[in-house]
Amino acid sequence: MAEKDNNKDAADFGIGIPVKKNPFFLKGLEHADWGIKDRMSRIFNPQSGNTVMLAFDHGYLMGPTSGLERMDLTITPLIEYADCIMCTRGALRAIVPPTSNKPISLRFSAGTTVLTELNDECLLDIEDAIRVNASALAIMVAIGSKYEALTVKNLIRTADMGAKYGIPTLGVTAVGKELVRDTRFLALASRVCAENGATFVKTYFCETGFEQVVAACPVPIVIAGGKKLPENEALEFAWLAIQQGAAGVDMGRNVFQSEHPVAMIQAVRAVVHDQRTPKEAFDLYNTLKK
Ligand code: R5P
Repeated sequence: MAEKDNNKDAADFGIGIPVKKNPFFLKGLEHADWGIKDRMSRIFNPQSGNTVMLAFDHGYLMGPTSGLERMDLTITPLIEYADCIMCTRGALRAIVPPTSNKPISLRFSAGTTVLTELNDECLLDIEDAIRVNASALAIMVAIGSKYEALTVKNLIRTADMGAKYGIPTLGVTAVGKELVRDTRFLALASRVCAENGATFVKTYFCETGFEQVVAACPVPIVIAGGKKLPENEALEFAWLAIQQGAAGVDMGRNVFQSEHPVAMIQAVRAVVHDQRTPKEAFDLYNTLKK
């Protein structure tokens, strides 16, 4: 029998039923391309709307910093608890099992170390990002520095390349030694990243006015952890950031330099995804560390 014969006639056209709409869950990305939305939905949990990104890209700038001397021992056990990992291609290929199947926010700009001032940052090759199946391209943007124009140009080029292949761009706001992390600066830097094409922005929490930083950024914001704090304090500011509109954390030292990193990342998850208070999350940390 020919394939065209005796097929059941199409009849169920749903006439009169409006076409279903699926509003996208992350702000400012309603009109993004399907590939961008797909990758963002892997980085951010569509149920909570938030993400716990584990950052361990510090070596590209700092070398073997505390907690990252042997990433195979310290980082690999944490990966299963992260929604997304933020790392260099070197660390990725060396210590991240491909079977982890985690979205990768790939450190996509490099060029400066702690031994020099910020200098002539360059970009990686988009083909390598595709090769490792990156879910985001993380670009450092140094607003207010001598290299402001170069880093903004890097962001623009990255956003263009990412858009070509459906890969989101993460604008990472750097703070120079002479700049203060206050509301005005963080709002300006985050906004500049979004206006120039960042799909989401990584910045710092500030004690006052963080809500304004989030409100003025038209795309999701995740916060960096910064230097190691006591666990209860880190959970407190992560909670404050989430309460004030952050869509997650991109945390490194406050997790991998914790005395109990596996317990700490789970406590961070409780704050970010389960709306636990800092006290509840700290109790969870103390229970898990046993
Ligand atoms: C710094 O080199 C990286 O961009 C880190 O990913 C970022 O600072 C987040 O890590 P931490 O929570 O340790 O600040």
